[in-house]
Amino acid sequence: MKKIILTGDRPTGRLHIGHYVGSLRRRVELQNSGEYDEIYVFIADAQALTDNIDNPEKVRQNVIEVALDYLAAGLDPEKTTIFIQSQIPELCELSFYYMDLVTVSRLQRNPTVKTEIKMRGFNESIPVGFFTYPISQAADITAFKANIVPVGEDQEPMLEQAREIVRKFNSVYGPVLVEPEILLPENSACLRLPGTDGKAKMSKSLGNCIYLSDPSDVVWAKVKGMYTDPGHLQVSDPGKVEGNTVFTYLDAFCRPEHFGRFADCFVGKKQSFTFNSLDELKDQYRAGGLGDMMVKKFLYEVLEDTLAPMRARRAMFEQDIPAVYEMLRKGCERARAKASKTLAEVRNAMKINYFDDAELISQQSEMFKNK
Ligand code: TRP
Repeated sequence: MKKIILTGDRPTGRLHIGHYVGSLRRRVELQNSGEYDEIYVFIADAQALTDNIDNPEKVRQNVIEVALDYLAAGLDPEKTTIFIQSQIPELCELSFYYMDLVTVSRLQRNPTVKTEIKMRGFNESIPVGFFTYPISQAADITAFKANIVPVGEDQEPMLEQAREIVRKFNSVYGPVLVEPEILLPENSACLRLPGTDGKAKMSKSLGNCIYLSDPSDVVWAKVKGMYTDPGHLQVSDPGKVEGNTVFTYLDAFCRPEHFGRFADCFVGKKQSFTFNSLDELKDQYRAGGLGDMMVKKFLYEVLEDTLAPMRARRAMFEQDIPAVYEMLRKGCERARAKASKTLAEVRNAMKINYFDDAELISQQSEMFKNK
């Protein structure tokens, strides 16, 4: 079987380092591994509109921001088809048919939809499009026959629902669609990176994000202000590593080579340390004597090691926005070709392909002649 990857992001803001470790970094690795037959990464503007219907300008402005973040992170339009959801009308048609395969009560039980409805305070006024977005997401995935979907763990219920739709469709109409599997980050720190304030999730509304496109002075200011261990008052006090956001970020970003390259961070006026691994650094922090500032300086260097080259690539692409739109237009064209092929198979299986079915027409003409 072909190995086909698909994933996407809602364009409601610039992408932050939570997106990066949760999915974007992995996508770039998968892309460059050369092991996959097709890779689709898309900007889910239609899904973003399901709860931003009165704010189309916000969604539109963020489409280009997300596209720039993709290119900056290393997605390569030669290897990955990058497209915009709303430009693929086939997805709407698939969703329309899938709606008959899902019950209202099943949607009401989707845990992600449930939490999101609460978070957004919809109460009794849930937009139908928002309520049914798991169905449209199943269309996004199945239109491309994707079997590998790299996303965060909050998307598991969406994948489960998509698999149910595939099974139902295939059992009723025949084996047309492919069941997708989720691909989660391996490292638990990357599953859900907390905000800089230590809160469970990075979110724009909480103002606790480090964006991929933040300038270096902003990154430093955010790292400096990060939540650590509130019990670590004196440098000499023992510190906690678990639940300490600085260490969670190191778990997500730090590589062994960083200890050699950024050894200077641990040379101070009063004390100096040499560490060869994150475990050694953690041990020292737990034992006491290691100040937060030193660890933060190191984290900043570690983050910048990833962010600085991305910032430079972004600046380059920002110089030619028409070319970025042209890249997206081509991506949409390629994506549409694939989606319309699947749609034709779906229509065929559902027996709504009247004009392509010569046999149907001749059979019925015989039947009516012989009446
Ligand atoms: N719901 C996803 C998110 O909020 C975005 C998305 C839409 C998606 N359609 C998808 C992700 C299909 C993977 C596959 O991040």
